[in-house]
Amino acid sequence: MAKNFLRIFLAVTLLSGCKAGQQANHPSYPLDPVIEKKIDSLLKLMTLEEKIGQLNQLSGMGELTGPSIASSDHAQLIRQGLLGSMLNVNGAKATRQLQEIAINESRLKIPLLFGYDVIHGYKTIFPIPLGEAASFDLEAIEQASRIAATEAAAAGQHWTFAPMVDIARDPRWGRVMEGAGEDPFYGSLVAKARVKGFQGKNLADKNTIAACAKHFVAYGGAMAGRDYNTVDISERTLYEVYLPPFQAALDAGVATFMVAFNELNGIPMSAHKDLNVDLLKKTWGFGGFMVSDWGSVGEMIAHGYSATPEDAALAGFKAGVDMDMESRLYVAHLKNLVEKGLVNEKEIDEAVRRILRIKFRLGLFDDPFRYCDTIYEKEMLLNPRHLEFAKISACKSMVLLKNQEVLPLSREIKSIALIGPMADNQQDMLGTWQGQGEAHHAITLLSGIKQKLPHARILYAKGCDFTGNDKTGFAEALNAARNAEVIVVAAGESAMMSGEALSRTQLDLPGMQKDLIIELSKLGKPMVVVLFNGRPLTIEWMDQSIPAILEAWLPGTMGGPAIADVLFGDYNPSGKLPITFPRNVGQIPLFYYHKNTGRPTNDAQRYTSRYIDSPSTPLYPFGYGLSYTTFEISTPELSATSMGPSDSLLVSVKIKNTGNRKGSEALQMYIQDKFGSVNRPVRELKAIKRVDLEPGQETVVKFAIHPSDLAFYTADMTFKAEPGEFVVFVGSDSNTQLQAGFSLKL
Ligand code: NOJ
Repeated sequence: MAKNFLRIFLAVTLLSGCKAGQQANHPSYPLDPVIEKKIDSLLKLMTLEEKIGQLNQLSGMGELTGPSIASSDHAQLIRQGLLGSMLNVNGAKATRQLQEIAINESRLKIPLLFGYDVIHGYKTIFPIPLGEAASFDLEAIEQASRIAATEAAAAGQHWTFAPMVDIARDPRWGRVMEGAGEDPFYGSLVAKARVKGFQGKNLADKNTIAACAKHFVAYGGAMAGRDYNTVDISERTLYEVYLPPFQAALDAGVATFMVAFNELNGIPMSAHKDLNVDLLKKTWGFGGFMVSDWGSVGEMIAHGYSATPEDAALAGFKAGVDMDMESRLYVAHLKNLVEKGLVNEKEIDEAVRRILRIKFRLGLFDDPFRYCDTIYEKEMLLNPRHLEFAKISACKSMVLLKNQEVLPLSREIKSIALIGPMADNQQDMLGTWQGQGEAHHAITLLSGIKQKLPHARILYAKGCDFTGNDKTGFAEALNAARNAEVIVVAAGESAMMSGEALSRTQLDLPGMQKDLIIELSKLGKPMVVVLFNGRPLTIEWMDQSIPAILEAWLPGTMGGPAIADVLFGDYNPSGKLPITFPRNVGQIPLFYYHKNTGRPTNDAQRYTSRYIDSPSTPLYPFGYGLSYTTFEISTPELSATSMGPSDSLLVSVKIKNTGNRKGSEALQMYIQDKFGSVNRPVRELKAIKRVDLEPGQETVVKFAIHPSDLAFYTADMTFKAEPGEFVVFVGSDSNTQLQAGFSLKL
C-alpha cells in the first residue's frame, strides 16, 4: 500500500504542477519573508543540542502550581535550551514562571510554547464536541471555540490540541465524544469552524491560540471500536472518509497537526512518511509543524515496528514528526543519529524552522509574556458573557429524540419528580476533557429547574448509580414519582465512560438505570428521560416505552439551566444527530453513507442484505432531531433537469412552520450518484441550511449544485465528477424521501 500511496501522491503532485519533493505552500500558509529571515539567523546561532531541544515537548502535570517549579528537571532543561514546548502547565502565573527561565536564563532566550487540551472549553465548559456538532450551527461552534481560546490564552496557553477531526462511525469507540460524528462533509465544515474559532484572524492576537488537527489519520477507524486498535482500511476509504476533515482544517490555516497513535495498514502513523511528509507537507503544502501523540514515537517499539528507542526516534523524525511529545527520544538520540550520518542536520533545521515559525506567528518573540497576565486572566475565566454563551451552546446542542405530547412541560406544574444519577451531579455534567473546568461551577439540572420554577415542589431522588446493581434507591425514587405530576429522569453515562481509552462493548444505559426507568414508567405518568452521554446509546426499549426523550449529551457548565429552558419551552430544541443511533451493538458500524450492495436491504425479504433478528434500519438516523413545532417540506424543484460542466442547478424547497411555536429547522441536502466507475454511497450530505420560522410562516430555501459538488475519487483515483444520473434529496434528516432527479452531461 505504501508504494501505491506514493504513486498516487506523485500523480497528484504532478497534476498540481509541482515537482515531487518540492514543498508547495498551501495558500493558507503564506510564508512571511521577514519571519523566515529571522529564523535563518536564529538557526545559525543554535547548537545542534539547542535545535533538538526545540523538538522536545514535556508535560508539566503534577508540578505546575507550587513554588517547586523552578527547581524541577524541566527548569534545568529549559535553562539548557533542551526543552522547546510544554503541555499541561496551567495559569498565567505558572506559565510566566517557566517562560522567565527560558527568557532570562537560557542562552538564546527562545520562548517556550505552551500547549493544552482545550477541547470544549478551558474554564467555562461547553457541551462535549459531539454535542456542539449536534447544533448543526457552524457559527455557534466557531464562537464556542473562540471563547475557549480567549480563556486559554488569558491563562497562558498558546496552543490547543484541538480540534479532533477524526470521523467516527463506531460508537463503541470512546472518542466519538470528541469529534463531529460520522460524516466527512459535515466533519469538514465543523473542522473549519473550530480552527477559525481557536485561531481567529491573527495568531498573535491576545485572545487566539494555535489549533491542532488531530489525529492524523484514521484514528477513528480503530477495529471493533477499541481505542488505539489497529486500523486497516482501503485507500479509497482513507481519501473519501478520513482525510477530508484534515484537508478542511488545513484550508482553514490550522497551525499544527498531531499524528495518531494507531498503525494504518501496517505502518504506525508516527512512521508514516507517505502521509505525513509526502502528502501533508509536500503535496498539500502544510507549513506548520507536526507533533507526535503522547509517547507515540516510543510506542513504535510495542507496535513491532522499531526495534530500539533509537530506531523509533529515527523513524518518527524521518516520517515528519517534528515535535516529540513526552517520549524524550529525540533529545536522547537525534544527535547520535546526526553523527552517524543517518539524519542530516538540514533536516533538523527544517523541523526547527516549522516550530519557530509558529512561535513567531504567535508573537512570542515580540513579547514572550503576552499571554501571562493574571489580571486579564481573572477577568476572562468564567466571564459572564462566556457563561451566557455556554448556555446558548448547550441549548443548541440538544436533540429531541421523541415527544408524545409531553414536552414542553407547563410552568404551571406544582410538583416534579426529578430522578437519576445525573439529576444533581456537577462533576459528570462537564464530560471528559474538561480542561480547567471545575465541577463546583457546573449548574445541575436540579438547580436549573429550581431556578426556573422556584415555587414548584421538586422531589429529587437519585434512584441508582451509573454502575453496579444496587436497587435500594428505587423505593425512594418511586415514592417521589408517585407524589409528583411529572417524572423527569436524568440518566446516561458518567463523564468517565466516554473519551480516551474509554471504549464500551455494551451501549445501553449502564447499571440499574434501565430497570429504574421501566419501574417509573409503570406509574403511567407523563415522563421524560433526559439523556447525558458521550456517544450513541442503544435505547430501542426506551423509544418503545417512554413518551419523551431529550438528548442533552454532556452539556458543560451551564447544562442545568439550558436543559430547564428546553424542558419548559423557553428554548425550542433544534439539534440534529451528527451520528447514527443504532438499535443494538450488533448493527455497528451503522451509518447513513453506506453502499446499496447488490441485494439492497429489505427487512421483509429473505435474500437481501439484512439481519434475521433485528431491523437493519437505525433507531434514529444521522441528521435526525424533532422540534416543538412541525415543519412541512415540499418535494424539491430543480431549475433544470440536466447540467453541463460549467452550469449549476438550483434546488428549491418550500418549508412551512405548521405548528404553533416559533422553530428552527436544519434542512439537509443529500445527493446520490446513481452509477459510477466505482460504487457510490446511497446518498451523501452536500449542504445544510438553517431556517427560523414563525408559526404559519413559509419560505423557499434554495440550494445550488455545481458539478464540483459531484466529484469523487473515480476508479483511477482522480477526483472528478462523472457524467450520469443523480438524485437530490432534501429534508429534515438523512432518511428523507423528498427527491428529484437530474443528470450531468460532460
Ligand atoms: C493523548 C491524546 O490522544 C491526545 O489527543 C492528547 O492531545 C494528548 N494525549 C495530550 O494530552
